[in-house]
Amino acid sequence: MRAYDSQTTNTPQSGTNGTPHGPATSTAGQPLPAADTFNSLQQLFDQAHLTSDLAAIQSLLLERAASQSTPIAASGAHIIRSGGKHLRAALVLLAARLGTYDFAQVRHAAAAVELIHTASLVHDDLVDGTERRRGSATIHTRWDNDVALMLGDYFFALAAAEMAMCADSRVITFYAHAVQTIVEGELRPVTAVAPFDAALERYLYKTGAKTASLFEAGCKAGAALSGGSDATIEALGHYGYALGLAFQIIDDMLDFTGSESLLGKPPGNDLRQGTITLPLICAAAGSSNPLLQRTSDAPPPTEAEVARIIEEVIRAEGISQASAYADMYTRQAIARLEALPASPARHALIHLTRSIQTRQT
Ligand code: FPP
Ligand code: MG
Repeated sequence: MRAYDSQTTNTPQSGTNGTPHGPATSTAGQPLPAADTFNSLQQLFDQAHLTSDLAAIQSLLLERAASQSTPIAASGAHIIRSGGKHLRAALVLLAARLGTYDFAQVRHAAAAVELIHTASLVHDDLVDGTERRRGSATIHTRWDNDVALMLGDYFFALAAAEMAMCADSRVITFYAHAVQTIVEGELRPVTAVAPFDAALERYLYKTGAKTASLFEAGCKAGAALSGGSDATIEALGHYGYALGLAFQIIDDMLDFTGSESLLGKPPGNDLRQGTITLPLICAAAGSSNPLLQRTSDAPPPTEAEVARIIEEVIRAEGISQASAYADMYTRQAIARLEALPASPARHALIHLTRSIQTRQT
């Protein structure tokens, strides 16, 4: 996507008090130990007794998507059944379990976050012209552009209806803020790999906007709906934001190191779309290879160039440097949790965070 402005906006202002999260130019720290027993999110959900609640969220989503319009009902069921992990819903539920857990209440906030996320992916695939997601045809590919546009809008409306059913109106504020931030972030991409500081600042802004803001909102919604204090809601917001940054950095690393069978989409997609991410920014700063000196408005690289760029990014330690940033944000996220009283839900959130740090898909 091209840049629409030349403003000097910093890391997204996050939370109702507008406090920015995390220093945009902090030095990355030492790697964290990997999670040992929690090898997959599903295993973690089982151990945290989340599986049946998440299945109930999936049923709720399918029920809500049963529109009178045949294309909306069919495409909605297609995307809901496409195998999303429901990580954002899990965060809402676990955040709520830190307080007084009432699934009948919090399920609306968990469904809303998944509907917003899914809507944003449907629109994103349309804008990016992506053909496959999670191993299946994208909505605009299997149906058409109109259906993708309308399905995204329909899901936003469904999300609004879920929010309206939440007992705490702050949930609407949290999610509305996140959606505004996502949209603003989409229109301010990273335009060049250099200079490094500017590229890093823009990358963290964009990543904070497109991914971390919704993690933050979901965590705050869960905390608010379970009677959390203002301080707990704020802490959970900071946790979600840092986790979202780590999650997206790892996603961007996997675009270089993953395989199509694991990712459900071909690796190198970001390069083909002219999207500049952290591994490329880090590698370009330490390599004299002109192939890495990319700008977002340059013609897309050929398939042979994509393969050579991936090789050079790995050789120039772009992955290991990006990984150090992911570790730093993971540590920040865990520190936010460790400031809260110990509980099974806090334990599960800490392991969820570590499991994300070591994820391969
Ligand atoms: C995925 O990023 C993109 C998003 C999570 C946000 C996309 C947002 C919009 C298109 C604006 C409309 C959305 C709202 C909320 C109004 P990516 O392309 O890097 O990831 P991918 O590889 O999974 O496609
Ligand atoms: Mg995309």
